[in-house]
Amino acid sequence: EKGGYDHFMIKEIFEQPRSIADSMRGRLRADDAHLQLGGLNDYLDKLAQSDRVVIVGCGTSWHAGLVAEYLFEELARINVEVEYASEFRYRNPVIKENDIVIAISQSGETADTLAAIELAKSKGATIFGVCNVVGSSIARATHAGAYTHAGPEIGVASTKAFTAQVTVLTLMAIALAKRKGTISEETYRQLLIELETIPAKVEKVFENAAKIKEIAFIFTYARNFIYLGRGFNFPVALEGALKLKEISYIHAEGYPAAEMKHGPIALIDEDMPVVFLATKDSSYEKIVSNIQEVKARKGRVIAIVTEGDTLIPGMVDFVIEVPDTHEILTPLVSVIPLQLLSYYIAVMRGRNVDQPRNLAKSVTVE
Ligand code: F6R
Repeated sequence: EKGGYDHFMIKEIFEQPRSIADSMRGRLRADDAHLQLGGLNDYLDKLAQSDRVVIVGCGTSWHAGLVAEYLFEELARINVEVEYASEFRYRNPVIKENDIVIAISQSGETADTLAAIELAKSKGATIFGVCNVVGSSIARATHAGAYTHAGPEIGVASTKAFTAQVTVLTLMAIALAKRKGTISEETYRQLLIELETIPAKVEKVFENAAKIKEIAFIFTYARNFIYLGRGFNFPVALEGALKLKEISYIHAEGYPAAEMKHGPIALIDEDMPVVFLATKDSSYEKIVSNIQEVKARKGRVIAIVTEGDTLIPGMVDFVIEVPDTHEILTPLVSVIPLQLLSYYIAVMRGRNVDQPRNLAKSVTVE
């Protein structure tokens, strides 16, 4: 059951070191540089020859797809488009026989995602599934796939399924890059070693739970929130905002930080909490100036920073540290404090965290 936790959501958040490890188990061994996804074997060549990958999904699964876009482009130098399944299926999408479609779904039952698969299939594309529920409709409708091993996710807000999806998609991107020769042997080995440390790093983020709870207490009655990130942390900003919206019913928006000056900056005043994903990566300097822009307008900033950062703590109202990792693996650690923040705020507001109003665990109607 809930194993002593108050809600499934918090139990599932805390399960992530294990669910991430389970999603790598048997597939990855850094010792001898082994990486193999059974379901991908017969399709790796096809994927390597393809010019284009289209990723479809909804909600949190779509956010995992956005992370995958950055991963596949960066590592495997392949053109990726990420589509909301609901939009894709009702357009007249250009899909050719050589195209690969990756469908992402925790439940494997999302009606729009299933319909998008059927449409792409009818146009001759090869469909690869990343599902959590074994034998689900989407898993059965695809040509091949790699399951996430997150275990059953009961809380309506997706947490451990997201990190498991990102884990599997990372393995796919690295395997593909290796096949295509688009990463060096050294980077390949480094990434495998670093991936194996992720469960322990996620565990480390949990040490900040009490601090995150205090921050949640301060912002319990905020009416709006903005989440900003760049690069690999941009999809994380979207995911953080979605988590907060769906379980606390606070209006929240995620943006790429650089887009702020094209409109949303008008919203910033002393009542606006802004969550920055500000880990030490290639966008760090840019994020620092975005933080200055928000502070200059009296926004209240909560920054997710890399352990040991000495600059940002002096600029913002609150910091939450996460362990350092390879830039492309950042979402796996940076999303964790956002899940906790939304959970604690929702609990303090007395919300039904596991079953938010108007939502169902799998959306089997369009
Ligand atoms: C967010 C959430 C939803 C789902 C979306 C897709 O926490 O739970 O946004 O991510 O309905 O569901 P699946 O992944 O089952 O296709």
